[in-house]
Amino acid sequence: PQKIIIDTDPGQDDALAILLALGSPELDVLGITAAAGNVPVTLTSKNIRKVCELAGRPDVKVFAGCEGPMEGTLFTAEYVHGATGMDGADLPEPTMPVQAQHGVDFIIETLMNNEPGTVTLCTLGPLTNLGTALKREPKIAERVQQIVLMGGGLFEGGNVTPAAEFNIFVDPAAAKIVFACGAPIVMMPLDVTHQTLTTAKRVEAIKALGTPLSEAVVGWLDFFERFDEQKYGTDGGPLHDPNVIAYLLKPELYSGRLCNVEIEADSALTKGMTVADWWGVTDRPKNATFMRGVDADGFYALLTERLARLPA
Ligand code: BDR
Ligand code: CA
Repeated sequence: PQKIIIDTDPGQDDALAILLALGSPELDVLGITAAAGNVPVTLTSKNIRKVCELAGRPDVKVFAGCEGPMEGTLFTAEYVHGATGMDGADLPEPTMPVQAQHGVDFIIETLMNNEPGTVTLCTLGPLTNLGTALKREPKIAERVQQIVLMGGGLFEGGNVTPAAEFNIFVDPAAAKIVFACGAPIVMMPLDVTHQTLTTAKRVEAIKALGTPLSEAVVGWLDFFERFDEQKYGTDGGPLHDPNVIAYLLKPELYSGRLCNVEIEADSALTKGMTVADWWGVTDRPKNATFMRGVDADGFYALLTERLARLPA
């Protein structure tokens, strides 16, 4: 199976991404590192363990990462995800441990100890842990197979400011390091995730699985979409992070373009903007595959099928 590390800040949609990965035999989850983002890192590392236990996988190695962005103070999103970060389902307090090693050290050690080109990094939150790891050990850039990340947006604009998507907005300094590191990057921006909507029909199909796990998932989706559905006026809200995992399982669901993407880190107006040169109007190096198209029904079919396999 494909070896992956997931870096994440659950987050209801992060939780679904973790479940999608754990329900997929094609993937070997070497470890999950907690990022500070939707809520502080003490909560995200707890939420990751709740999700692993829900999936019947208390054996997964979970690491706590950095507490705040590389520069400035942490901006969180309880206004979207609720006070716990995963409101909508009541899950028991986790009993599985957090590993003693720091998440950043785990990322570095794993990439340095595995054959180059065999471990993929999946990031579902602000890029703080990866940015910090790259700063401390730049050699990991040539060893990672690829970085697949949820973040940014171009034609869809931003969801925190008119210009910026949450994950990039929270830590633009880290994003800048990641996008300049030279490793292959695949981006799942809002342009994709605003198409994978939690319509009533799709949520109904998950509910029909009739398991305690599907009940928790539906609770999360109901809570999560409450915020976005109103805002965007769509049937259902965007489901962001599982697109990263779905891409690894079925890349044919997605279409995009390799282009130059630079991160605006300084401007007060556009801080956190992913300036993607979709039309190739500069000769700046093409550093990221910017995804724009998705087969949303195919995505939900995959997600639902994999959720049905859990708990493991
Ligand atoms: C991203 O921000 C978070 O709130 C979600 O979990 C997702 O990773 C979407 O902008
Ligand atoms: Ca997230």
